[in-house]
Amino acid sequence: MKTMTKENIIKIRKDFPFFYNNPNVIYLDNAATTQKPYILIEKEKELLEKYYSNVNRTASKFSFHTTELFDKSRDVISKFINSNFNEIFFTYNATYGLNYLALFLAYNYLKEGDEVILTQMEHHSNLLPFVYLSKIFNFKIKIWKLNDNLELDLNDLEKLITPKTKAISITYMSNVLGVVNDIKNISKLAKEKHIILVVDATQGIVHNKINVKELDIDFMVFSAHKLYGPTGLGIVYINQKHLKNINKKIPALSGGGIVSKVNIDDDLIDIGLLSFPYFFEPGTPAISQVYSFSHVIQYLQNIEYYNYQEYELELTQYLVNELKKLEFIELYGYNKNKPNDNRFAIVPFNVKNVHSHDVATILDNFDIVIRVGHHCTQLINKKLNVDSTCRVSLAFYNTFDEIDKLIEAIKEVKKIFKI
Ligand SMILES: Cc1ncc(COP(=O)(O)O)c(C=O)c1O
Repeated sequence: MKTMTKENIIKIRKDFPFFYNNPNVIYLDNAATTQKPYILIEKEKELLEKYYSNVNRTASKFSFHTTELFDKSRDVISKFINSNFNEIFFTYNATYGLNYLALFLAYNYLKEGDEVILTQMEHHSNLLPFVYLSKIFNFKIKIWKLNDNLELDLNDLEKLITPKTKAISITYMSNVLGVVNDIKNISKLAKEKHIILVVDATQGIVHNKINVKELDIDFMVFSAHKLYGPTGLGIVYINQKHLKNINKKIPALSGGGIVSKVNIDDDLIDIGLLSFPYFFEPGTPAISQVYSFSHVIQYLQNIEYYNYQEYELELTQYLVNELKKLEFIELYGYNKNKPNDNRFAIVPFNVKNVHSHDVATILDNFDIVIRVGHHCTQLINKKLNVDSTCRVSLAFYNTFDEIDKLIEAIKEVKKIFKI
C-alpha cells in the first residue's frame, strides 16, 4: 500500500524548477544537497529587488523594515524545531556551525583531561573540529564504535562514559548508512550524567521531525541547503539554559555586530557583549538566504512535509529489494537489516570488483546522479573495510520509476565490466 499517489509526487515535482529544466536527469544525490523549490528563488529575488538593506544596524525606516523581515524569518525557522527566537543563530553551513560549537565548548566548558565522545559514523565536519581542538586544549577524544549491524549500541556508550566525560557530539542520522540514532535515549543518559549533548542534525532534519525541547538537546546544527533551502546558511540551536550569564562566556568568533561597548587602552580591556542571538553573529548575516529559507520552511509546513517520511521509507524498501536481486551488488547495513524508521533514505553499496568512480561515470552517462567516494566519513569506511562506496540518497520528490531506471543502468555496469 503506497502512502502517496503518483499524481501527488508529480505535483510536488512541479514545485522544483530543476526537474522542469532537466526532465531526463535522475537526481539521487540528495544527501549532498537538495533541489530548490520556486518559492526560494522568488523570495530571494523579492528581498534583493525590493527590501535589500543591512539588518540590525542603521537607523533608517528601510533598514528597520529589512530587520523586521529578518526577525520574522528567524522566528519561523526557530519554531520549526520548536525552539525560541533567541535560541538559534546563523552561520554559513553546518560545518561552520559545528566548528563554532566545538570552539565555544573548548573556550567555555572543557578543561584539560576532560573527555568528549564522538562516534564512528560522524561526518568529518563534526569529527575534525573537536579532534584539532583536543590537541590545543588537551581534552581527550573517545570514539563510540559501530556494532556489526553498523549501528550504535547504547550499552557501548554507557561503557565509554566516565566522570571526565563532558560532551557527546553525535549525528542524528548517518549521511552514509541512513541509520537514525536514538537521540531520545542518548539525551536521557547524557542528562543523567550531566554531559552536554551536541547533535549534528544536518541529515536528520531532512528525514525526521525534530523537536529540540522534547529531545532536550543542548546544542544542534543543520544546513539550509540540505533541506531545500539556500546555500551559505547554517543554523545553530543553543538551549536557553546555556544562555544564562552569556556575557561571562567567550564568543568563538567576534567582531562587529556583537558588542555594545569596546574600550581598550593600555592594560584596560572592557568589552560589553550584546545579548543572544546577536552575541553569536559577528559580521553581516546571510540576509536574503535567511528570508528565503523561512519561506521554504513555510512551504514544507504547508505540504505537511514530514508525512512524506513513510513514502521515503517505501522508496527505500523498493530500492533495497531491487538491489538485493543483483548478485553483483554488495550492500552495507541493508544486507542484514530491512529498511525501517531507523534506517532509510540513504543506501550505500558497491558493485563487486568495480571501483565506485567507474560506477558513477557509467550512471552519469544515463543522466543519473549519485555520490561516490568516502563521503567525508572515513571512519565508517574503516569499519566496512573499503576505500569508497556508491551512495544513493533519496528525497520525497524521487519516484519508483527513477529507481527502476537506476537499476537498469546498474545492470549496464555489469555488462560493461563483464562481471
Ligand atoms: C551529517 C553531516 N554533517 C555535516 C555535514 C556538513 O554539511 P555542510 O557541507 O553543509 O557544512 C554533512 C554534509 O554532507 C553531513 O552529511
